[in-house]
Amino acid sequence: MIVHYKTTLTDEAATQALGKCLALALEPGLRIYLHGDLGAGKTALTRSLIHAAGHTGHVKSPTYTLAEPYPIRLAQHEVFIMHFDLYRMGSAEEFLDAGFREEFNERNICIVEWPEKAAGVLPAPDLHIFLSIAGEGREVELQALSDKGNACLALLRFAPNL
Ligand SMILES: Nc1ncnc2c1ncn2[C@@H]1O[C@H](COP(=O)(O)OP(=O)(O)OP(=O)(O)O)[C@@H](O)[C@H]1O
Ligand SMILES: [Mg+2]
Repeated sequence: MIVHYKTTLTDEAATQALGKCLALALEPGLRIYLHGDLGAGKTALTRSLIHAAGHTGHVKSPTYTLAEPYPIRLAQHEVFIMHFDLYRMGSAEEFLDAGFREEFNERNICIVEWPEKAAGVLPAPDLHIFLSIAGEGREVELQALSDKGNACLALLRFAPNL
């Protein structure tokens, strides 16, 4: 089962709208992997998702820490959104040594920028998001690989500006 959804994000507000929309589909254990060049909008999308999920503080790009946890409340339970940016990761061993693999459990929501850097050790995602620069805006393609991923895509149909 693979389901696609493709659209144009004409400006940053559209990227933020997508992040907000995806926040409505969060559930424990959800994994979203973000693909795209430097500056494609992976962090911008994640930031709006984390804010829409209820985090009121700053969301920085985890460029040096590689991972940043955000506690949020989801249906009366505290869960973590783990935001990874693996761009600077040297090897798959580094990923394992840092204990990152254990973060991909049934509770945590994991959002990963540059998942390619941990190919072979990352578990499968529920949703792939491919972002690419297109003129002044961005093209985005979402690919669901599970029921959880499909639930994300189902919500996009009701987003007014996507
Ligand atoms: N739909 C859009 N149209 C135009 N600009 C956008 C759009 N979405 C995001 N941007 C802008 O593009 C830039 C994206 O930067 P961002 O840090 O999110 O990229 P990134 O994919 O995380 O890059 P990196 O791989 O370096 O982490 C920001 O300046 C943001 O304002
Ligand atoms: Mg980024």
